[in-house]
Amino acid sequence: MQIIHHSHELTTRLRREKRVAFVPTMGNLHAGHLHLVDIAKQHADCVVVSIFVNPLQFNVKQDLEQYPRTLEADCEKLKKAGVSVVFAPAVEEMYPGFDGESLNQSMMITPPPIAAELCGESRPGHFAGVATVVAKFFNLVRPNVAIFGKKDFQQLFIIRKLVNQFNFPIDIIAGDIVREPGGLAMSSRNSHFSAEEKAKAQGLHLALREVIEAVKLNPKGLTAIEQKATAALTSKGWDVDYISVRSAVTLKPPPIMQGDLVVLGAATLNKVRLIDNIEFCAKPLN
Ligand code: PAF
Repeated sequence: MQIIHHSHELTTRLRREKRVAFVPTMGNLHAGHLHLVDIAKQHADCVVVSIFVNPLQFNVKQDLEQYPRTLEADCEKLKKAGVSVVFAPAVEEMYPGFDGESLNQSMMITPPPIAAELCGESRPGHFAGVATVVAKFFNLVRPNVAIFGKKDFQQLFIIRKLVNQFNFPIDIIAGDIVREPGGLAMSSRNSHFSAEEKAKAQGLHLALREVIEAVKLNPKGLTAIEQKATAALTSKGWDVDYISVRSAVTLKPPPIMQGDLVVLGAATLNKVRLIDNIEFCAKPLN
């Protein structure tokens, strides 16, 4: 496995490859990321994983500074997983205008309006930052296939739009959420929790499951169901950003509870913000 920090070296290294599968990450890797690597290996002999904590997608400086950086341990895991190339660029490599303080990225990808909802409501500019850095990576790596996790369901939706509307010749593959035995979705942020907090953190997943059951019993009571789930989590010490049932196809609120749906949630427990979602299918109403 080769660890590359500069884009010109990456281009030279990948020139000889016929087919490349790409997994973009921000490091601090866990079983969820390794699952994406496994999928990538099914699609190409050459698997490239990027590790880059992208400043452009953080709107809170402290969040960016505190994001765990574990390059050495990550590379160990990726080597064992059979990755061909790790691309770990510095900020100035991804943002050529970076002057030590400002990224000077004056051109950005404008994501679709849905980027201002759900996670975008509490993280303005987040998805513009994600879409912009992913477009940069696509230009540098030029993969045939790129794999994104379904835990970031809204991100996956926006990346699919990016690829479609900017004509990137790349197949986007979605990797299922990997969960801890109690249901907690694997996340780099889980490393901030003690064992006790981790047990409590399963509450978000359980709340989403309860929403699905309630919606199936009472498809017309969605608003009250979402509010009840929010209140229940709040009473257990969570600070809830949203609990929302959406169409899994458009990400818009569904006009009727029918077809492919997804319940999404974002909430903070002990200063750690988690997101999760569960897809489900609702039968046509009689
Ligand atoms: O999902 C992530 O880890 C990041 O948003 C991504 C796609 C690597 C872009 O920085």
